[in-house]
Amino acid sequence: MSLVNMPGAGANEVVLRVENLCKVFRLPGAHGQAFKALNQLNLAVTRGRTLAVVGESGSGKSTMAQLVMKLQRPSAGRVSLRLDSGMRDIADLPARELYRKIQMVFQDPYASLNPRQRIWRIVSAPLCNYERLSRDERQQHALHYLQQVGLGEAQLHAFPHMLSGGQRQRVNIARALATKPEILILDEPLSALDVSVQAQIINLLLDLQRDLGLTYIFISHDLAVVRHFADQVLVMKSGDMVEWGDVDQVLENPAHVYTRQLLQSVPGRLIDLPVRTQSASVVADG
Ligand SMILES: Nc1ncnc2c1ncn2[C@@H]1O[C@H](COP(=O)(O)OP(=O)(O)OP(=O)(O)O)[C@@H](O)[C@H]1O
Ligand SMILES: [Mg+2]
Repeated sequence: MSLVNMPGAGANEVVLRVENLCKVFRLPGAHGQAFKALNQLNLAVTRGRTLAVVGESGSGKSTMAQLVMKLQRPSAGRVSLRLDSGMRDIADLPARELYRKIQMVFQDPYASLNPRQRIWRIVSAPLCNYERLSRDERQQHALHYLQQVGLGEAQLHAFPHMLSGGQRQRVNIARALATKPEILILDEPLSALDVSVQAQIINLLLDLQRDLGLTYIFISHDLAVVRHFADQVLVMKSGDMVEWGDVDQVLENPAHVYTRQLLQSVPGRLIDLPVRTQSASVVADG
C-alpha cells in the first residue's frame, strides 16, 4: 500500500503513520500457540482530523491503540510520529517525547482514575514528568485543564468517587490534555456512559478538537456516533483491515459485506447527536 493510499491519509499533513503493524500473542499452554491479533495494519492520521476505528469485539482495535502508545511491543511493522525533525519511529523515541505528543483516554472513566487521589493531583500528574511544580502550581494547572473540559473549582479537591460518570470522563480528558498533546487516542470513551451523557462528551471532544487543533483516533462500536464524529473510518475484523474511507462513503455505501453487517447490527439510536462544527470530511485518496 502506498503511503498516500492508506486509511486516514488526505491532502493535509500526516502526523501519525502505522505501517504493516502486526501483533502476535502466544496463547498460554505447553505449546504456546500463536494468535495473530493484528495483521499488517496500515493507517495514517491527518492533523486536526478524526479517524474512527470500528469492528466487532476482538478485532484488534485496542491492540492497535496499545502498540501506538507503546504499551505493547509490535511483532512486526512500525509506528511513526511527526516531530519537528520529521517522521520518527516511536521505537526510537523516549516515553517523555512520545507522551508529549500523544495521549490516550480509556473506556472506563472510573477504573482509570486512582481512587485515593484528589482530582487536582490526578490531572496534574503527567506534567510532573516534565516540570518541577509546587503544590500550588499543580493545582493551578489542574484547574486550567478542568475548566477546558467544563469542570472547575468544585471538582478540584474531590475524589473520583464523588463525581458522576460523565465528570470522571471529563477528568480523564483533562489529564490527557495536560501535556498539550497533538493526538488523542480515544478507546471507546463513551461506552461506559449513559446515553444522555454521551452526547455531552461528544460535544466536548468536538469543541476541543476545533479549539486546540487536536487529531483523534476514535475507537468505537457505535457507527451512529462515528458518522457524526469522524472524518474517515477504518473497519477491522479479526486483526485485518476490511475497508476504509471517508465516513459518509463507507457508512452510506459500504463496499464490504462485513461493514454492511456491522451497520445492520446498530440498534436505532435516539440520542440527540450534535451537529458537526468541523469542516466537511477529508476525501480519501484512492
Ligand atoms: N495480552 C493478550 N494476550 C493474548 N491475547 C490477547 C491479549 N490482548 C488481546 N488479546 C486478544 O487479541 C484479540 C484482539 O483484542 P483487542 O482487545 O485488541 O480487541 P478489540 O477490538 O479492542 O475488542 P473490544 O471491542 O472487545 O474492545 C482478542 O482476541 C483478544 O483476546
Ligand atoms: Mg478494545
